[in-house]
Amino acid sequence: MAIIYNENDKTYTIHTKSTTYQMKINSYGVMLHTYYGARVEDMDMSYTIRNDMVYPYVPRYESIKGDGMYNRVDHLTQEISCFGCGDYRESALNVRNTDGTLGLQPIFHSAKIEKGKYSIPGLPAFYGEDGETLIITLKDRVYDIYVHLYYGVLAEYDVICRSVRIENKTDGAINIEKALSLNLDMPCAPSYDLISFVGKWASEREVQRVSVEHGKTQIFSTRGASGHIMNPSCILCEKDATETSGNAYGLALVYSGSFLISASKNYNDNTRLVAGINPENFSFEIEPNGVFCTPEVALTYSENGFETLSHNLHAAVRNNLCRGKFKNARRPILINNWEGTYFDFNADKLVSMAKDAAELGVELFVMDDGWFGKRDDDHAGLGDWFVNEKKLGCKLSVLADRINEAGLKFGIWFEPECISEDSDLYRAHPDYAFKMPGRQPTLARQQLILDMSRKEVRDNIFNQLCSILDNASISYVKWDFNRNITDLYSCEVDASKQGEIYHRYVLGLYELLERVTSRYPDILFESCSGGGGRFDLGMHYFMPQAWTSDDTDPIERLRIQHGTSFIYPVSTMGAHVSASPNHQTGRVTPLKTRGVVAYFGTYGLELDVNKMSDEEKAEIKRQSAEFKKHYELIQRGKYYRLSDPASKSLYCAFMVANEEQALVAIVKKGNRANASNELVRLRGLNESAYYTINGSGRYNGKALMSHGVVVPDMWGDYESALLHLEIIK
Ligand code: DGJ
Repeated sequence: MAIIYNENDKTYTIHTKSTTYQMKINSYGVMLHTYYGARVEDMDMSYTIRNDMVYPYVPRYESIKGDGMYNRVDHLTQEISCFGCGDYRESALNVRNTDGTLGLQPIFHSAKIEKGKYSIPGLPAFYGEDGETLIITLKDRVYDIYVHLYYGVLAEYDVICRSVRIENKTDGAINIEKALSLNLDMPCAPSYDLISFVGKWASEREVQRVSVEHGKTQIFSTRGASGHIMNPSCILCEKDATETSGNAYGLALVYSGSFLISASKNYNDNTRLVAGINPENFSFEIEPNGVFCTPEVALTYSENGFETLSHNLHAAVRNNLCRGKFKNARRPILINNWEGTYFDFNADKLVSMAKDAAELGVELFVMDDGWFGKRDDDHAGLGDWFVNEKKLGCKLSVLADRINEAGLKFGIWFEPECISEDSDLYRAHPDYAFKMPGRQPTLARQQLILDMSRKEVRDNIFNQLCSILDNASISYVKWDFNRNITDLYSCEVDASKQGEIYHRYVLGLYELLERVTSRYPDILFESCSGGGGRFDLGMHYFMPQAWTSDDTDPIERLRIQHGTSFIYPVSTMGAHVSASPNHQTGRVTPLKTRGVVAYFGTYGLELDVNKMSDEEKAEIKRQSAEFKKHYELIQRGKYYRLSDPASKSLYCAFMVANEEQALVAIVKKGNRANASNELVRLRGLNESAYYTINGSGRYNGKALMSHGVVVPDMWGDYESALLHLEIIK
C-alpha cells in the first residue's frame, strides 16, 4: 500500500519506491506538509516543525493560548495555501466569495483512498491502473466551498501527481481568481536553487540555474501557450546538487497554456514552490454545485541528483502519459520537405524526393506547410484545409498513392488553431478569430488565432481535418502552432467571463485533440509550435513526439536536447538531419555528426534528398540502418547526460544504456591543435560486466564508469564518435 493513514498522528503518508511524502492534520484542521524526500518508514515527520516561536505581526487563526505556531498559517508548511486569511506568502488559491470577500480558510473535512491513478475531466493527466489516489477534502471554515486535493501515486517511478478541485456548494456563483495545482512548502529547509529551461525561438530550453532568495523567482508564460521562452517544468535542488548527487525535486506541468511556477523564500528561510495556471488574466466562475479542476503537476524526488530524477520522469512519461499505438510501436523514419523546399513544391517534386528517400531506408514522407488553400507563402490560406490541386498538380489522394507506391507512408502538416486574414474561412467567419471589439487584431507571422473556446469553431476545423484525413492514405500528422495568443476576447461570452477564455481555449484545444487522435488511432501525431514552442506534457498526452526546435544545427541541438532531456524522454524529441551549411546558423558540419545527434531523438531527415551526392546518400542509408538497429536501446534505455554542452570541454557526450548494451555519443564542439587527451566517464553500465566497444576489446564496466573511455582521435571541426558497447557473455 502506497498510502497510509495513521490515526494517532493524524498523518497521511505516501510511499513510492524510494520516496516518502507526508502531511498531517494539525489541531486547527490545517493540512500541514511535513515531509517530501527519501523514503522513511513509520514516522511522524512533523517533529521538524517548530511550534515554539511566537512573533508579533504573524496573524493567528484563533486566540487560543499554548498552541503557538500551529495557529499561524504564515509560518506553517501547508499542503495548500490560500490568500486572505493569514498567509502572506505567494498563495496557491484565491477565491472571491458570493459576498465579494476574497479569501479561503480550508480545514480538514474528510479523506479517501482509491485504487488507480485519478484522471481529470477535460484535462490530460498521467494514468495508471496500478497507481493509487489519495483525495484530501478540505472545507472552508465559513462557506460551503470545498477544496479537494488529489494525489496520484505512480510508486514504481517515484512520481506523485497533484491536482486540485474547487467545489462550490454555496447557493451563489463564486469566482476563482487563482487556482494553482501545487503548493510545496519545504520545512526547515536549506537554501535551494531553481533550475529552469528557458530560451526563445530556435533556442529552446537552455538550462538556467538561479538561487532562490527572498522575493520571488518565477518562470511563467502569459502567452496562452506554454511557449518557447520558459518551459512549464523545473527542478528545485539543494545548492550542492549535481547530475549524480544531492537532493533534487523535479516538477512538470501537464498543461499547454499560460502557466506560473514560483519559488520564494520567506522570513524564516523556508522555501515555497507553487505551480499551475498563470493567474494573470485568469478568473473563473463556478456556479452552485460546479467544480473547477486544475491541471496536473507531476513531481518526483531524487536524493542522487538530476539523473535519477530525469529517469523517473522519462519512464513515467513514456509508459503512463503518452498513449496510443506509437507509445510502444517503432515509429517510422520520416523525411519532411520543409527545409528541403519550403513553400516551393508540387506533387512531382515531392514524389521525386520520396523515391530517393525510399532507397535510403526512410519510411514516411511528410508534406509540410503550403499544400492547402492559396498558400504559397505565409500570408494566406490558414483555415482553408482543402487541397490546392492547382499547386500540387493532382488530388491529395493521388499524391498519397504515388508516395505509397514509392514505398513510403504519407504524412501531412496542419496548423488547425490559426487563420489567415486572406482565407475563405476568415471571409466567411471573421468572428472565429480572437479580436477585441474596436481594435485591429495583432498579427504574428501574418496570422490570427481561432477562438478554440467555441464549439462551433472547433467543429468547423474538425470537419475540415476529417475530410482530408478520410480521403487520402495518411499515416502521420504534424500539428503546428506558429504564434501565441493576443487580442483575447471571445464574442460568445459575457464581459464578466472574459478571464476564462485563456483556460477555455486550452480546454477546447484538448477536446479537439482528443476527438481527432481517437478517431485516427493509426495515425502518428507530432506536435509542433514554431519548433519547440509548446513542448509540454499536456501535448505529449495526445502526441507522443514533438518537434524539438526549428534549429536543426547539430551543435546547437546539443544544448537544446540536453536542456529538454532533464524532463522529457528521448522518445518525445523530434530530431532531423538537415542540410549543411545549416539554414539557421550557416554552420558546416559533417553528415555523420548530424546523424549522431538526431539519433538521440526520433531521427529523420529534413532536406532535399534529390540534391545529395551518392556518397551522402550512402551515409544516410548507413545511418537509417544503424538507427533502426539501436532503436529499442535509444528509445527505451536510460539516458545519461555525461557532460554539459555549455562547459569549456571540447566535447559533449551523452549516452543511453540498458542491461545489455549502451550507445555513447561524443561530439566535438570545436577544435584545437595539440588538444589534451580527454576521458569521458560513462554511466549506467554493469560494474562487474565486461564490454566490447564497437565490436572489439574487453572493457570492465566499473573501469569505464570510474575512469572513462578515451575520446577517439577526431580531425576537423564538429566531428563525432559513436561507441556501441555490448556485454561479453
Ligand atoms: C514551423 C515549424 O516548426 C516548421 O517545421 C515548419 O513546419 C513551419 N512551421 C511551416 O510553416
